[in-house]
Amino acid sequence: MSKPKVYVTRMIPEPGLALLREHCLVAVNDRDRPLAREELLANVRDAEGVIGQLTDKIDAGFFDAAARLKGYANYAVGYDNIDVAEASRRRLPVSNTPDVLTRATAELAWALLFAVARRIVETDAVMRSGAWPGWGPLQFLGLDVSGKTLGILGPGRIGQAMALMSQGFAMTVLYHGGSKPALAIEEKLGARRVDFDTLLAESDFISIHAPLTPASRRLFGAEAFAKMKRTAVIVNTSRGPVIDEAALAVALREKTIAGAGLDVYEFEPKMAEGLRELQNVVVTPHIGSATRSTRDNMALLAARNLLAMLRGDTPPTCLNPEVLGKK
Ligand code: DGY
Repeated sequence: MSKPKVYVTRMIPEPGLALLREHCLVAVNDRDRPLAREELLANVRDAEGVIGQLTDKIDAGFFDAAARLKGYANYAVGYDNIDVAEASRRRLPVSNTPDVLTRATAELAWALLFAVARRIVETDAVMRSGAWPGWGPLQFLGLDVSGKTLGILGPGRIGQAMALMSQGFAMTVLYHGGSKPALAIEEKLGARRVDFDTLLAESDFISIHAPLTPASRRLFGAEAFAKMKRTAVIVNTSRGPVIDEAALAVALREKTIAGAGLDVYEFEPKMAEGLRELQNVVVTPHIGSATRSTRDNMALLAARNLLAMLRGDTPPTCLNPEVLGKK
């Protein structure tokens, strides 16, 4: 029997590709950039399986172009780039990569939180410039973390991991969102589920882990920032459009809130006007899952998902298992 044709829309770590090659004829976009829409559609025409990125729009037009498709595997946990309802309507399984990147993403959220609280990037620049005159009692005063209140928006896997990592810092933990109570963090940390306004008003640090949905889009705008403490810091490692970035730039400039740590942006790869000039924001280029082993594991999971779909089996982390007639 001939091997199924698979297309991978961007080079991913070798372990995933090697696994795919054992069973499939694999073509990869090896240019180090996302494909333009027309390139994507042209490349998936005869593919039976596709592994794609959060930058690829997987919608009706994509499914029309990929007429031989048996399944699509996202190389990301976030799947706001996929029209899952459309895939289900066509009875096509689609998958994402949860779990394998939970700790790496939560760790980056902590790195950003501390970088902002203790002014790490700003003071690193002072050292490099040679301008540090020596120790001074009033220099570079930052924010305490221990004993403060951590607010989690989106108590899913990553949000709960972030909360659990606060244990060493004796923080009070609040959370908002989720369809049911987050029992692990309630039981282990005494975390309290609160409404959005309470999260805003009581948190010293807010970390965003909610998926991008119509309800979460621009949830943080001028109105929300005005309800936060002036000493509060917001961290976003989820999806950029959860924050109205222009409003954030204003809030940071006017010191409505104290700081922000951002790994994701409303209009990636661009950053809102005005953010670049501010000292109270630390910015990284969407690297939440960017550790070697995490990316290897994402590639392996995406490959396993796709191979299962090609066999007609339920993939390990399927977003719409009902299309396969199994739960
Ligand atoms: C994801 O997986 O959704 C991240 O944004 C990239 O790894």
